[in-house]
Amino acid sequence: MHYTHDPIFPENFFWGASSAAWQVEGATREGGRTQAVIDLNSQKKKPFADNSIASDHYHHYKEDVALMAECGFSSYRFSMSWSRIIPHEDRKVNPDGIAFYNNLIDELLKYNITPIITLYHYDLPCWIEKKYGGWLNRSVIEEFEYYCKICFNNFGDRVKYWLSINEQNMQIVYGDWLGVSKGCNNWFEQKWQINHIMNLCHAKAVLACHELVDGGKIGPVPGMVPIYPATCKPMDQIGAMNAEEFTEKIWNDTYVYGEYSNFVKNYWKNHNINPEIKPEDEELMKKAKIDFFGVNCYRSNVGKDAPLDLEAKEYLLNKDGKKGNLQFPINPGEFALTENPYVETTDWDWEIDPVSLRYTLRYMWDHYHLPMIITENGFGMHESIGNDGYIHDKERINFLRDNIYQVGLAIEDGCEVWGYNPWSFTDLLSTGNGMAKRYGLVYIDVTDEQLNKINDASKLSIKRIKKDSFYWYSKLIKSNGKEWGREKE
Ligand code: BG6
Repeated sequence: MHYTHDPIFPENFFWGASSAAWQVEGATREGGRTQAVIDLNSQKKKPFADNSIASDHYHHYKEDVALMAECGFSSYRFSMSWSRIIPHEDRKVNPDGIAFYNNLIDELLKYNITPIITLYHYDLPCWIEKKYGGWLNRSVIEEFEYYCKICFNNFGDRVKYWLSINEQNMQIVYGDWLGVSKGCNNWFEQKWQINHIMNLCHAKAVLACHELVDGGKIGPVPGMVPIYPATCKPMDQIGAMNAEEFTEKIWNDTYVYGEYSNFVKNYWKNHNINPEIKPEDEELMKKAKIDFFGVNCYRSNVGKDAPLDLEAKEYLLNKDGKKGNLQFPINPGEFALTENPYVETTDWDWEIDPVSLRYTLRYMWDHYHLPMIITENGFGMHESIGNDGYIHDKERINFLRDNIYQVGLAIEDGCEVWGYNPWSFTDLLSTGNGMAKRYGLVYIDVTDEQLNKINDASKLSIKRIKKDSFYWYSKLIKSNGKEWGREKE
């Protein structure tokens, strides 16, 4: 549809932004927190900084929340650090961890900002890994359930919106990159066991939320990269559908229907993959009815047919921020990804495609008929303070404006969307490029070099500076999506 009017956003729409504990908090050895596997993983990403200080949100949370309020936020999506709440295998709850999140939640509520909390954003505690060898062990399920219950019991009186696992699909697709594959010697097969264990963790979280949080709502957070077919050649359409299955649909179907689809079961059969699935597992998965989807979406991909006689190629992501530095995958017999000549890309070769956000929302709504909250969307770029002392992030403003407009159009198209929380509020550590790849509406005055050199937050500036995008976003959200800052064609 083309519309003759600007989209209208619902009253009480959640306008906010997003973060994750391990990427924003810092203080990884303070307040009783112990190490998480992702901390060690971040230490391997030199020359970029690791996460020990990050944006030092742990010490700056009051200032950060005040800035959110100044911007006009009505929501903030963030995650809790499991090893801050339960730091050791004796399962004792850390009072300092509980106090930190209580303070953060209360500070948000003071300004009428609704917390939307992710229970798990890549940060498995090291003690779990040491005790059980990582995600492959079913004991993780009980530990995760215990942790979730602690969160619901401590914060559920004030927090009603919960997210289970961030981008489970991406953790399985990019296991090494996100530190999930530890303890595996045959990732090709074992990733499906890990995936099953994560599905059970998700299901336990859903059930516990409904049991313990009065009026609580909970959903998963798939990482959505919609797939367009490369051409109208019929087999390219099948290739694109395969790509969609293998990168996102398998996960979404399981969350909603509580069982594995014939597509994935046949794939397992053909490849001799036998994850251990007990009858009671599927019962549990079926009982765990989600209330909504969190949706992370930054870009799109293009899929095409990959006949069996093609040579396989791995997906090599651009990890250094110099354009043209990625390799599209070829999975013979399944699908290949390829370039999209119609869209520009970021320095990390991510497609800049606002329409893909509308497409994703339409796709999710058509398939599942569940409400959605956009939990991530954003523009990663190299940035530094300008000569005038400010940060003029015009590209980010354009990205946000065009993406939010598409959210509005999806709502006009009939999708039920409850909120928009772009990545990220302040700059924070990227998954692989430290502070070199910035996403924030607020600049954090610290570089990878400084973080590498001075391992002490109190000796670094870490000053917060509002970027141009902060002011632009503030106007837009205070007008509930009316002040676009330019004429929109
Ligand atoms: C999302 C993750 O997939 O993408 C975030 O949930 C991540 O944790 C974000 O930071 C952006 O990716 P990157 O690699 O640019 O940090």
